[in-house]
Amino acid sequence: MHKKTIAICSVAALVMMPGTAVSDPDDDSLTINGEISIVTEVEAPAHAENLSTIYSGWRFRSDETQAFQMDDFDNPGMIGVENAMVNWETVDGTEGKSCESCHGAPEDMAGVRAVYPKWNEDKGKVTTLEMEVNNCRETRMGAEKWKYTGGDMTDMVALISSVSRGMPVDVAIDGPAKATWEQGKELYYTRTGQLELSCANCHEDSYGMMIRADHLSQGQINGFPTYRLKNTKLNSVHARFKGCVRDTRAETYKPGSPEFVALELYVATRGNGLSVEGPSVRN
Ligand code: HEC
Ligand code: HEC
Repeated sequence: MHKKTIAICSVAALVMMPGTAVSDPDDDSLTINGEISIVTEVEAPAHAENLSTIYSGWRFRSDETQAFQMDDFDNPGMIGVENAMVNWETVDGTEGKSCESCHGAPEDMAGVRAVYPKWNEDKGKVTTLEMEVNNCRETRMGAEKWKYTGGDMTDMVALISSVSRGMPVDVAIDGPAKATWEQGKELYYTRTGQLELSCANCHEDSYGMMIRADHLSQGQINGFPTYRLKNTKLNSVHARFKGCVRDTRAETYKPGSPEFVALELYVATRGNGLSVEGPSVRN
């Protein structure tokens, strides 16, 4: 109890807005293109034991930011999806193949985003979508790996996400993924940096607070990749984790590292039941 009070105080110390406001997520509901309805609020899964309701980050954004995501013509993240469409159909590497050669249309990937990260039997470890894409490029196409958080990769993940929009996130914890999930949970609750803050201190204990000019969300990843108005590009999950860890003034893990893969698995399962939303728009 005592520790929790201290944690909230240090978060409060970051709050620059006069009169610390705590405001709930708004009541808006999200339908994309007038046809894909998105679940942005649902009962928390049992393993997210300190939350009763989970919310998409969309619910914490301003009306102007929210509007970008309601129509694909207004969503700047869809430009990345279009770029990825070109890569999807382009032959690359020594095997003379494109993604399309083996996978057909991107729509055939519907449902894939919703279950990642996921245990990969052949590799004997949990893999992310980015790892799967690079595995296909390297071992199946004879092509060069893409940079983990680079533009081509993040665009491709956005394309794969876009065809699952509206489907419930359903990432598995059981079986061989369990140990990785436990590692991710440990990281989520570990305080880091000079500020001694954990992910939970901000995104579990303090969501709803204004932190500087930002309305603090639960830090869900159902909307990734996210197009951020701040850096005007699509951002991958690990790039976002890196930024948040840096904000606690800590050294961060590398994108694609086993630690961030474990953290992604854990955070993804905290969003089980929300809809896949990527590419989303955030500030
Ligand atoms: C030579 C055939 C081949 C090519 C080319 C190929 N893949 Fe794959 N890919 C596979 C096979 C086989 C699997 C594993 C079985 C499966 O899940 O379909 C796979 C798995 C995947 C998965 C995980 C799917 C899941 O359901 O878990 C993703 C994502 C993926 N590929 C993306 C891509 C992308 C993006 C490209 C192009 C950059 C690509 N692949 C190129 C054959 C290929
Ligand atoms: C000092 C407080 C703080 C800490 C600690 C922190 N974050 Fe964040 N995080 C923020 C703020 C502020 C934002 C931007 C507003 C928002 O979406 O909540 C954010 C955004 C996010 C988002 C984007 C959510 C979306 O809907 O786009 C994710 C994901 C996230 N954080 C994950 C994490 C993880 C994982 C950790 C621990 C490694 C962490 N954060 C630690 C403050 C923090």
